[in-house]
Amino acid sequence: MTDLDQVRSVRTEGDSWSITESVGATALSVAAARAVETAAEQPLIRDQFAYLLVSSAGPAWARLASADLEWIGDDEHGRRAHRVTCDYQAVRTHFFDEYFAAAVRSGIRQVVILAAGLDSRAYRLDWPTGTTVYEIDQPKVLEYKSSTLQAHGAVPMATRRPVAVDLRDDWPTALAAAGFDRTQPTAWLAEGLLPYLPPDAQDRLFAKVTDLSALGSQVAVEAFSLAAPVSERRRAARRARWARVRERLGLDINFETLTYNDTSRADAVQWLTDHGWQVHAVSNADEMARLGRPIPGDLVEETVSSRLLRARLVAN
Ligand SMILES: C[S@@+](CC[C@H](N)C(=O)[O-])C[C@H]1O[C@@H](n2cnc3c(N)ncnc32)[C@H](O)[C@@H]1O
Repeated sequence: MTDLDQVRSVRTEGDSWSITESVGATALSVAAARAVETAAEQPLIRDQFAYLLVSSAGPAWARLASADLEWIGDDEHGRRAHRVTCDYQAVRTHFFDEYFAAAVRSGIRQVVILAAGLDSRAYRLDWPTGTTVYEIDQPKVLEYKSSTLQAHGAVPMATRRPVAVDLRDDWPTALAAAGFDRTQPTAWLAEGLLPYLPPDAQDRLFAKVTDLSALGSQVAVEAFSLAAPVSERRRAARRARWARVRERLGLDINFETLTYNDTSRADAVQWLTDHGWQVHAVSNADEMARLGRPIPGDLVEETVSSRLLRARLVAN
């Protein structure tokens, strides 16, 4: 048994969820971080829909999304660690916002957000006329987002096409039925997704993305380092912190049991490079430092370790 096996995943083949259940709740937690960042004095990103989307799920979620972090109480370490979590989410959002801005500058008008969750980019980014944004996620998650935003009069800034399908199933057929044109270059995004897919489903996802990509397509990925040598220490610290979060907010969700923690998972940079993509990768630590949100030395162990990738298809 490896260290990573110690936490049992509760995931099952074909499982599904609403926004407050299982993997659905992870969309609330990352959107909560965007809400906190948006309310900061000098925010790195602005997601004006994040607080609405999170707080509409209930009072505990509203507290998680509130800027004052009042729910943390006098736990100074918890407050600093949570602030770094929000910094990380802000930096990753910034990275992928810039990726999309560059993709549309290069002429791409077809965008696919895989596992879109409560991503509000279709509503908040400045898309050129003629851009279509496809959002793939489970039906109840997309329905929650669409109905919440619609009820508050939010209007997409591009043609938005929700595609309600599971990414372990035949999503290319659903995407094509929604109007996706494989002859046009596409900008794809997989942010906050890979740990929730079994390793073989990740391989299939990358293979399908590659197959559906006309030359000149781009993809951006958040890839986590599961096999890092310090990972069990880091996981223990994060586990303790999330237990405190759950207790203080009264949320019955254990995020750690929702991921597939196989060390056999393909390395995303390697996979993409081997399949015709020219990859640019940066570690989250470097990108956070570059953007003025360095990880404090004493919190490195319990902060997520990832690489943010963007790649261009140069051969297929
Ligand atoms: C951590 S959230 C990230 C959401 C969004 N990308 C963001 O960064 O705000 C994970 C999302 O992945 C979605 N997801 C995970 N596995 C999925 C699957 N097999 N099919 C469709 N959606 C999935 C969940 O429903 C959830 O919305």
